[in-house]
Amino acid sequence: MTEGGRVRLDQLPEWEALAVHRRALGEVSLRELFDRDPERAERLGLAVGGLYLDYSKQLVTDETLRLLRELARATDVAGLREAMFRGERINVTEDRAVLHTALRAPADAVVEVDGENVVPAVHAVLARLSDFAERVRSGAWRGHTGQRIETVVNIGIGGSDLGPAMAYEALLPFTARELDFRFVSNVDGSDLHEAVRDLDPATTLFIVASKTFTTIETITNATSARQWLLDGLGGDQAAVARHFVAVSTNAEKVAAFGIDTANMFEFWDWVGGRYSYDSAIGLSLLIAIGPERFREMLDGFRLMDEHFRTAPAEENAPLLLGLLGVWYGAFFDAQSHAVLPYSHYLSQFTAYLQQLDMESNGKRVDRSGRPVTWQTGPVVWGTPGTNGQHAYYQLLHQGTKLIPADLIGFARPVAELAPALADQHDLLMANLFAQGQALAFGKTPDEVRAEGVAEELVPHRTFPGDRPTTTILADELSPSVLGQLVALYEHKVFVQGAVWDIDSFDQWGVELGKVLAKRVEPALTEGAEVPGLDASTAGLVARYRALRGR
Ligand code: F6P
Repeated sequence: MTEGGRVRLDQLPEWEALAVHRRALGEVSLRELFDRDPERAERLGLAVGGLYLDYSKQLVTDETLRLLRELARATDVAGLREAMFRGERINVTEDRAVLHTALRAPADAVVEVDGENVVPAVHAVLARLSDFAERVRSGAWRGHTGQRIETVVNIGIGGSDLGPAMAYEALLPFTARELDFRFVSNVDGSDLHEAVRDLDPATTLFIVASKTFTTIETITNATSARQWLLDGLGGDQAAVARHFVAVSTNAEKVAAFGIDTANMFEFWDWVGGRYSYDSAIGLSLLIAIGPERFREMLDGFRLMDEHFRTAPAEENAPLLLGLLGVWYGAFFDAQSHAVLPYSHYLSQFTAYLQQLDMESNGKRVDRSGRPVTWQTGPVVWGTPGTNGQHAYYQLLHQGTKLIPADLIGFARPVAELAPALADQHDLLMANLFAQGQALAFGKTPDEVRAEGVAEELVPHRTFPGDRPTTTILADELSPSVLGQLVALYEHKVFVQGAVWDIDSFDQWGVELGKVLAKRVEPALTEGAEVPGLDASTAGLVARYRALRGR
């Protein structure tokens, strides 16, 4: 240990061994790796719960994987993992435990924070949430005028929006279709406007979801929603209690906002916002899919937690995915990572992962505050296939950037599809498999020539290949499988943060913009002088005011 922190990553002999290995690998191609090794596809595959991961199309050899595992050992990923599961305060800059895994722990588990077992409280809240969800679903919960709830509007942002919104979309076939769900996050008033414009306040329930209950977007939207409700229901303040519930860690602020804390569902500071949709933050989802399905989802999370905690390094899926990301960032200079789900229901999945990964690992100093000299978190992006194929896959195949990708697909289409639509599933999956193949093996100039292509077009029609992918194939997109997938990525992000020696659980980088927005706002509204405003921003503010006729 050097003074004030861990031995720096790039000083470790294991890091140097990987650098040497990378140089020795040179331009090795996936074609060669497969030709040399007939068992490669079978060996570089992993089944966990309902998921199968094929990572044979990664630019790695057995030696690469061994060296990466050595790096994980040298950086004590397992030690930090145990500290997390034990409830130690591994979020060092906020001095907090990181215990989203306790949200899906079985009722008889013991997970202590400051000597107190948190599991009973988790299950007590889950029981209250389930009871409330059942009342809304059955119509027992009535609005102010005695009508049943028809639409649930979740107001939250970041982790208080992306998780429930993503999972609601992912599990649509499991939802109570007679209820409508909407998600409002943006402080742009159009978001709330579009969400409520066709709604009847008498049948609308708002869930105000905010860990801190101080987030300006959420509080602003919730205040406007309350006004919309009161305007629509004749101004009786008593209506608020029947149409507003809150999910938060901050009872004081909830009460100050005017929501009865009897209608509040709590969670705890040891649940990070981006790790929170399996807490009370998932209330909208819980109402949508019901308590039983929600529990199945939690079981899926737990299955992956246990796998991560107990599987040997050679067979540990989150460890493997995390290390592959480290490999490409450090030794291929990969800047981004594409997540390409071949399921329309996963249309929000990558957006959800953007917060999970980029807010966690978008860091530039190590856990002791020293600037890092290695790549940390990648830009995560992607949209469902096949749409992306007709938009940006061109760059994946023939661009100048190496972009590792995850291709996610399901063997079975959802049960409720009409037979003709279910038949389209084979075509969808054929595309997923074809993309993995084309990205990995490409098309050589000779293969292009053999098709009779004119010589001057050969370079244009050549595919270099060697674009690495992991294919994640599951049986179907069930609540359990969704839980497994999300936990897989949660722990992948954890592994990378552990190797890179960064705090994956704070998010100081979002603060400056918030402070500046508060400072600039009076300049827009009242023309107030903002001390120290730079010339560019001052000019834009003046132009904005002129355009607004102020
Ligand atoms: O500003 C970033 C952030 O703090 C996220 O980490 C969080 O998920 C989001 O804002 C919303 O925070 P809250 O749930 O406290 O409203």
